[in-house]
Amino acid sequence: MRQFKRIGVLTSGGDAPGMNAAVRGVVRSAIAAGVEVLGIYRGYSGLISGDIRPLSLRDVSNVVNKGGTFLYSDRCPEFKTEEGQKAAIENCKRFGIEGIIAIGGDGTFRGASALSKLGIPTIGIPATIDNDISSTDNTIGFDTAMNTVIDVVDKLRDTGESHARCNVVEVMGRGAGDIALNTAIATGATTAIVAEFPTDVDALLKKMENSRALGKRNFIVIISEAMGSDFGPMLNKRINDEAQIDSRFVRVGHIVRGGNPSLADRVRASRMGIFAVEKLLEGKSDLVVCERKDKLITSDIHYALVLDHYYKGIAKPEDLEGFTAEQIEAMKAHSAERRAHIEELYNMGNLISL
Ligand code: ADP
Ligand code: F6P
Repeated sequence: MRQFKRIGVLTSGGDAPGMNAAVRGVVRSAIAAGVEVLGIYRGYSGLISGDIRPLSLRDVSNVVNKGGTFLYSDRCPEFKTEEGQKAAIENCKRFGIEGIIAIGGDGTFRGASALSKLGIPTIGIPATIDNDISSTDNTIGFDTAMNTVIDVVDKLRDTGESHARCNVVEVMGRGAGDIALNTAIATGATTAIVAEFPTDVDALLKKMENSRALGKRNFIVIISEAMGSDFGPMLNKRINDEAQIDSRFVRVGHIVRGGNPSLADRVRASRMGIFAVEKLLEGKSDLVVCERKDKLITSDIHYALVLDHYYKGIAKPEDLEGFTAEQIEAMKAHSAERRAHIEELYNMGNLISL
């Protein structure tokens, strides 16, 4: 088995609470295995420019509880180019980086896969508040983001109840309605409106009017960012004008990307960080860490990215070329299971709301 002397760790793409805990897991477990760790700052931008410094055991003290990422993050279009990747590989040689743990979303994994193919073994760790990486049940940051949403909505509920108002609350989730679906249940919202399910606004307005007639004072309607930026203000106007319920539109935005990570995210991130190092040191590469029914497994990055497209119904026939019939069956089964899960959340939320 290959003996690693030095590996690198980076955070990239949209930040997510718990990224720091993952970096700490990587650094502490690698050092425990006798491997040095270099922090690559600003994601792939830092790998290209050489913004790389050693991380000691003490450098990751007091970060497990912090939101954001102390390694900073970046979107780096240059890394998608051959020249960018060449510069990154040269820096890997210059700094003696023999393997990389890349923490981020699907774009970050595409970058990780490119590095693997260029000879730098790389393992991805899923971190994004959206939970839109279909190969894992949970991504780092998702739980914290949802807890922040319920905190915000509980506050809106207080003032909504005082004034007999509705709040239409838009939450992040460009690639998935998971935040909206879960937080709608947890906040007792009238409904969650997400891109995954068709919306009958007329029926919603009727439901709200009926509930108001039964004496309901305040309403919460959670909508997912994926509905588009005009949808929330439009719905808010219709609730005011047609249902005659005083309503305010609130876009929670980046607030949910910050804040101290929840217990679940701290544990998940630490566990994934340790697991990723284990896999890298075992000689594995081009893999992403996935949580399935509370167990950590790895998935080939290409498989995970195609599975994601398959689940979202955007996989092209040529994307499936090269996969065995069993692998395609597994994608189908996994997608059906995930779809059933969000359907259950959607129906449950509607059933018990007014
Ligand atoms: P996320 O990782 O949250 O999905 P992005 O999609 O912005 O965020 O991707 C993060 C970074 O990953 C990009 O800025 C780019 O540097 C790198 N990346 C994305 N796609 C590719 C690709 N196809 N090839 C190489 N690198 C990529
Ligand atoms: O992917 C996470 C996410 O927060 C999305 O929900 C949102 O659309 C996007 O990132 C915003 O990204 P930024 O403002 O960092 O470009």
